[in-house]
Amino acid sequence: MPFPQNFLDELTARSDIVDVVGSYVQLTRRGANYFGLCPFHSEKTGSFSVSPDKQIYYCFGCKRGGGVINFIMEEESLPFPDAVRFLARRAGLEVPEETGDREAEQKRRRLLDLNRDAARFYYQQLQEPEGRAMRDYLDRRQIGQATAVRFGLGASVDRWDALITAMTRQGYTKSELLGAGLAVQNKNGGIYDKFRNRLMFPVINVRGDVVAFGGRVLDHAEPKYMNSSETPVYSKRRELYALNLAKKSKRPNIILCEGNIDVVTLHQAGFDNAVASMGTALTQEQTRLLSRYTKEIVLCYDNDNAGKIATERALQILNNSEFTVRVLRLPNKRMEDGSMGKQDADDFIKVFGPDAFERLLTGSENGVEFRLAQISGKYDLTDDRQRLAYAEEVSALLAGLESPVERDIYTVRAAEAAKLTPEAMKLEVQRAFKRRMGKERRARERRDLNPAAELQPKGRDLRYTNLRSAMAEEGILRLLLLDDSLFPETPPLQEKEFSSPLLGRVFSLLWRQREQRSAPKLSFLAGELSGEEMSHITNLCQKPESAANGRQALADYIAIVRREAEKRAGAGTADPLLAKMEELKDQKKSDGGKRHV
Ligand code: UTP
Ligand code: MN
Repeated sequence: MPFPQNFLDELTARSDIVDVVGSYVQLTRRGANYFGLCPFHSEKTGSFSVSPDKQIYYCFGCKRGGGVINFIMEEESLPFPDAVRFLARRAGLEVPEETGDREAEQKRRRLLDLNRDAARFYYQQLQEPEGRAMRDYLDRRQIGQATAVRFGLGASVDRWDALITAMTRQGYTKSELLGAGLAVQNKNGGIYDKFRNRLMFPVINVRGDVVAFGGRVLDHAEPKYMNSSETPVYSKRRELYALNLAKKSKRPNIILCEGNIDVVTLHQAGFDNAVASMGTALTQEQTRLLSRYTKEIVLCYDNDNAGKIATERALQILNNSEFTVRVLRLPNKRMEDGSMGKQDADDFIKVFGPDAFERLLTGSENGVEFRLAQISGKYDLTDDRQRLAYAEEVSALLAGLESPVERDIYTVRAAEAAKLTPEAMKLEVQRAFKRRMGKERRARERRDLNPAAELQPKGRDLRYTNLRSAMAEEGILRLLLLDDSLFPETPPLQEKEFSSPLLGRVFSLLWRQREQRSAPKLSFLAGELSGEEMSHITNLCQKPESAANGRQALADYIAIVRREAEKRAGAGTADPLLAKMEELKDQKKSDGGKRHV
């Protein structure tokens, strides 16, 4: 353990989970627990719960949960030791520093320094004679000097070791350059610059640190962009290009586009609220980040097929979120041969100017309008049979809307588009709505009838192989957390008797806390378990368990786990892999038999 147990005891005692979570999420008391809107996924009704008794949080929507340290790790995107320091500062506690942590922190700092110095170097190169090609490229793309400076654009020149030489001269080692993803190693062990002959876009996080780079070629070579690999300071799921600038915008929303160049052009044209998700689909983490700065998102992806798919995926992620979402649709571009072609925000601004873009922005549609237009575009609405198919697809979409008012408004609009009577369209939507309700009810019933499926952890690696034993193992953990005085002085079970490796490991960890004379707590496991594992353990603590009959329950649980462990040992194949293979063999035998009849 990186921090002494008594320090963590003190820290969690002084960091009440309701207080800590309450400073991020508005909580309302309901019975023994508090509820609020989950900060980790977008929702309109609160499925996020905090239990003051157990000192844990759990979201019934996205199934994330943990103790107070996990909460800070998730919410502030911090690794375990940093989350502990964060809470310590909040509680006014001194941290007994452990050398290991200080080392990790120093490494992170060093990585950020290297990235910043590399960005400076690329920036200087852009002014040098060797940066001529990149300066010409900026001219060709009509990106002005002031804009280039604001984004810290730079040049990686056409040499194998320009950056390596400059950085080693500043005292950075080769392994640091490799670790930062700025240099690459060849088969013979030699290293060379990763970015060469490219226009460099530093990626700067909201704290102002340079965390990564994207480098664009100056011609039509492939790949068009090279990007930094993931490092301890950079995860592409968690960053948005130019959010460091857009977060200061006075505009009421944030425009999300596809490309770095689009962002730069938009900022130059006065739309300083543009960001890009750098070629990946919008992630849940990115929407969380955005929610700190805006309530309204305008999707402005390219108008080709890939852009439409990206829009649809973003709408799904933002569905039922607290964001107001709008879709800005760029018109098609008329090509030289008269056909209609792809257009992105950069193309549009250059042809039609900022005012035209401003008009598109004001007139941009909401998500439902966008989807309606997508559907009507697929059908020829003068053809009766196609109108029928249109009505069917549209009603499936509208039946998915939660608000009856919204359903009503768009039903009328959808009817108009296909010259159907509003009454007929309404009937169709009502039918689809009933179908949807029926389907959801049946799914609920299936879940109620088949609890085994529900009991299984969601993550593949966590799957239980022996459900009967696992349920008892869960019970043992719950009791240990509820009232450890029910337990004897020595461990009643060994870790290897648990059928679930995770539950066994957690048992050992909690037992160790007990031996160190503190009441076992989930919060202390934050540094030992992954987020997924932690969420799973938190989830199993949601199930009812009473200390009243605790002694008897504990005895029963232990007996079950023992019996199941003996069975496994008795089968002679304690190894789960071997057991699985035996099972498959048996299956094959019986299958073969069947085939012969
Ligand atoms: P685009 O191809 O639209 O690039 O990809 P762009 O920046 O708009 O450049 P222009 O306008 O064609 O010159 C959108 C984004 O996807 C990522 C980059 O972040 C890019 O800005 N991308 C694209 C990559 O990461 N790798 C690639 O090979 C291509
Ligand atoms: Mn583009």
